[in-house]
Amino acid sequence: MDLIIRNGTVVTPSESFVADVGIAGGKISAIGRDLSAPGAKVSDATGKLVLPGAIDVHTHLAMPFGGTVSADDYESGTRAAVCGGVTTVFDYAIQRKGKGIVETVEARRAMAAPVACADFAFHCAITDLNGGSILDEFSSAVAYGVPSLKCFMVYKKEGMMVDDGTLAKILVRAKETGMMTNVHAENPDVIDMRVAQFLAEGKKSPWYHYLSRPEFVEAEADVRAIHWAKAFGAPLYIVHLANKEGVEAVSKARAEGHEIYAETCPQYLNFTCDVYKREDGRNFVCSPPIKGADSRDALWDAIRRGDVMTVATDHCPFQQSEKDWGKDDFTKIPNGCAGIENLYPYMLGAANEGRITFNKAVEVCAANPAKIFGCEAKGSLAVGKDADIVVYDPGKDFTISAKNMHSNYDHTIWEGVSVRGYPVQTYLRGSLVYDNGAYVGTPGEGAFVKRAGRS
Ligand code: URP
Ligand code: ZN
Ligand code: ZN
Repeated sequence: MDLIIRNGTVVTPSESFVADVGIAGGKISAIGRDLSAPGAKVSDATGKLVLPGAIDVHTHLAMPFGGTVSADDYESGTRAAVCGGVTTVFDYAIQRKGKGIVETVEARRAMAAPVACADFAFHCAITDLNGGSILDEFSSAVAYGVPSLKCFMVYKKEGMMVDDGTLAKILVRAKETGMMTNVHAENPDVIDMRVAQFLAEGKKSPWYHYLSRPEFVEAEADVRAIHWAKAFGAPLYIVHLANKEGVEAVSKARAEGHEIYAETCPQYLNFTCDVYKREDGRNFVCSPPIKGADSRDALWDAIRRGDVMTVATDHCPFQQSEKDWGKDDFTKIPNGCAGIENLYPYMLGAANEGRITFNKAVEVCAANPAKIFGCEAKGSLAVGKDADIVVYDPGKDFTISAKNMHSNYDHTIWEGVSVRGYPVQTYLRGSLVYDNGAYVGTPGEGAFVKRAGRS
């Protein structure tokens, strides 16, 4: 054994118990009381929680979008991740017309590998079927370790949207080949109609970003995607679910026995659409927009009963000067917000305050993402798993500020938000990478996670 994390409270989705965790060769080698091994380093975790590293299954690092590129690259984004207890980061590789899936992922993998501070994986967002030939590539993508795709049901003018026919073909082929189809669900035509109307009326503040794509715009697409997934018996994963009617549709489909999964993000759990009325409302502009209190409450309830199974970030930050492009016109604001370093502290803070249990926080941030997306060695504290471990101090209060984050961005929607409890150490495959406020790892030690396809 190389390391023993001694006497902490180990948290799994189903139980919490005081134990030592032994680590050898980057893996968890023992969990029990009074572990000892000659020469092993010992780290005392008395009074602390010992948790699996979180898996953020939704980020956009170095993503060309909204007339610029998102502010965190693979180094700064994954550095921030481990400083917030996220040890595996999934990024979206965007396929373009004429390009293949593996080719697209390999290009992003080459960017990430030399600098990654966390382990990393990719989903591929399909934007063009290349005349249908891309469907023939699904099995090779699974063999390569990328068994999940994304369809944007929006972003028509950005050239990323897929129509219903394409979505249907992808769902069918994904089911045949053991892939998961992820969707960003909003109705593009209704958004375009409402944006044109607001602009014509001179209504250009960030509040109209929300009103151009309110609850029903998202709900229609959730219901449509679920409808097609049910029709074809295909698994479906709805990313960044943010509205109550969508939650109800997911719950109904799941109760009927369909393989429908939903993810939400901390910004939809903590804020309401009222943020778009604030002076800095443009900083909160993301799509789908943050909704009303009913939706926020429905999302929390769905997490508690297991219908929203994952919480991820949709981390896609832009600098203040870029957000300012839309000061007088919401359509010019690059869409996206920061969150990668806030995910686990926020959900664990919610547990610390009694909104959910710590077991639930671990389930939605680590265990479920690993299960749904085929990360066989990740997501839980068990013998044989990767030693991706977070030591969490439930008594350490923390106020979030751009100044104490480890990203490249210059502002955060989380500025001034306090969380009760905070990670004090993060281990990536047994190696200490975050220690009491400081990144202490080595960029490039993060490894590509080859994932298993669905059986
Ligand atoms: O506003 C957002 N969410 N930007 C990133 C792209 C996406 O839709 O996930
Ligand atoms: Zn999206
Ligand atoms: Zn996204």
